[in-house]
Amino acid sequence: MTYFLLQYTHMRKSIATRQAQAHYNVMRVRVRHQRIAMWLGVVLLASACGLFLSYTNWSATNQINQSNKSIAQSQQQAKQYIALAKINAKKKVESDAKAQTAAQMAATGKSEADLIAAWPAAPASTTASCGVSDPSSLTVIINKKHCFTPLNWTPPDLTTIDGHQMRNIAATHMTAMMQAAATANAGFSITSGYRSYQDQLVVYNEWVRINGSTALADSVSARPGYSEHQTGLAADLETPGCVLECFGKTPAYAWLAQHAADYGFIRRYPDGLSSITGYAPEPWRWRYVGATVAKDMKAKGIQTLEAYYGVSGGNY
Ligand code: DAL
Repeated sequence: MTYFLLQYTHMRKSIATRQAQAHYNVMRVRVRHQRIAMWLGVVLLASACGLFLSYTNWSATNQINQSNKSIAQSQQQAKQYIALAKINAKKKVESDAKAQTAAQMAATGKSEADLIAAWPAAPASTTASCGVSDPSSLTVIINKKHCFTPLNWTPPDLTTIDGHQMRNIAATHMTAMMQAAATANAGFSITSGYRSYQDQLVVYNEWVRINGSTALADSVSARPGYSEHQTGLAADLETPGCVLECFGKTPAYAWLAQHAADYGFIRRYPDGLSSITGYAPEPWRWRYVGATVAKDMKAKGIQTLEAYYGVSGGNY
């Protein structure tokens, strides 16, 4: 009996041990599975975080790029508006002046000449010796110290080019220059050529009206009798959509800087030389002086007629 009891007890222990072993094995497998599941979870979570961060980064970069693009577009548009406003301002100065004259002629029944004669003359220079000896010379210098005598001097041989007047020789070379520039895809047109004393009086008075002072007007516009436009040898140039300062950044300007001397033209009011020329820089303003002088100035690196001929310039 005792033997059977011992055998039974032993058998139960053995069964319990096997069951425990089996249970242990099952648990080990479960734990292994749980570990694998946990690491898979960690890997998935890390991948998801990585993906999320990459997406956030891509999205932010994209948004920054979009913002930069739209800032650049706005800046470009603003530049175009400013350029257009400048063109309109310049055109308005001349059209306003003509409209004002026309309105006064209609109101008073007087001729333009009578009206202009009655207008207050632009302030006369106190320092100018004026009286250039030969206003018809191709190399005449008209500046704030040298004016026409008489003040309303008229060139002898004006002709029409591109809707504006210039002296014959200047017009001939300007025509050749315009054709060569157009062939080189650097075309331009004339926005202002010869201006009579009366035209300049109208334009100058309008600049005074717009600027509110003669001092400001004097930095950009010549007084009547003191403008090289009156020689018939000067021209203001433009490209479509670009007149005034921006003209200096056009292919037309780059072409002129290289070739204008061959046709006898120089830029009359260069950058940084206002103390000599008396005027703010005007990249659009070109003057005929003949190819010999223009090429010699270029070869010697002399940028102003005043320096080339040793003639006084600067302010009134
Ligand atoms: N704008 C130039 C200086 C002139 O009026 O002749």
